[in-house]
Amino acid sequence: MKHHKNVIVFGTVFLMMTAVFGCGMHGSSDGEEEQLDVNSLISVGFSQIGSESLWRDANSRSVQDTLNKEHGYYLIFNNARQKQENQIKAIRSFISQRVDYIVFSPVTEDGWETVLMEAKEAQIPVIVVDRKVAEECSDLYTAWVGSDSREEGIKAGEWLENYLEENGREDEEINIVMLTGTLGSSAQIGRSEGFHLIADTHENWHITAEESADFTTAKAREVMRELLAEQTEYDVLISQNDDMTFGALEAMQEYDIEVGEEGAAVISFDAAKKALQLVKSGDISVDIECNALLGPYIDEVIQEMEAGEEIKKEYIVEEEVFTKENVDAAIENRLY
Ligand code: AHR
Repeated sequence: MKHHKNVIVFGTVFLMMTAVFGCGMHGSSDGEEEQLDVNSLISVGFSQIGSESLWRDANSRSVQDTLNKEHGYYLIFNNARQKQENQIKAIRSFISQRVDYIVFSPVTEDGWETVLMEAKEAQIPVIVVDRKVAEECSDLYTAWVGSDSREEGIKAGEWLENYLEENGREDEEINIVMLTGTLGSSAQIGRSEGFHLIADTHENWHITAEESADFTTAKAREVMRELLAEQTEYDVLISQNDDMTFGALEAMQEYDIEVGEEGAAVISFDAAKKALQLVKSGDISVDIECNALLGPYIDEVIQEMEAGEEIKKEYIVEEEVFTKENVDAAIENRLY
């Protein structure tokens, strides 16, 4: 294993650890033993977007449960509360602490060039997770681990094609309302692009409303209420994450809009346990999985780098599509 080196981090970590563990780790008061132990940990600064969704909380837990002391890591976790400026500040602080690795999930695609350049100059490898940064920055980070959002959008469109066909409705005029996530985030851009790609091949599909609700339940409830005040005839709701789906469903209920087999089809993303239960009850027709459990993947990339192996630029995680037919096992095994 590499020697974990960084003097400033060592100082900080040592101080923080002694604060947390009392006068010594493992109950020891032997300073030298403590120093060796701390020095062997891989220090990682992680800038998380926020805690806007069930998915995000599960993602944070996955990183915290993996990149911990038991697995040889010292993790500095920062929650940016949806603000890019907070993420940039956190990354700068990781650079000045000279962590071994910087990991971050970018709230939006743009605006990272300067800070990523600073990390590069400091020779700290950066692993981007979950969402992506803009293509122009691809030389400024080491690897990206996450979901193919565009593919998720395509899966949603393909599901709708099959659903309409199976129900003999492929030639009907179909009104679609789309709730999108945080504008400018790769999750929003990819899912929208993917779905539009399929929708554009169907002249009878009409996306009559497309509004952002920032990936949150409260915003989606509000936005959906406003949309329904204008128009209630929708055949399909497509909502780019489960939390927004919960809010939209509440608003639809207020307007007595039926969903499921007898009503509007509901397409959701993420596949959190609470949403999968709604797939089972028929309130959500399909849930396109976005895998939140990225901690082990990040660990794998770091371990490959520690071993001096060549690493890939992109690691795309496996994901499924859940409907009533296959949801039972997923509910049972779901950790979030
Ligand atoms: O970037 C992943 C998306 O962000 C998830 O779909 C959503 O729930 C989260 O907030």
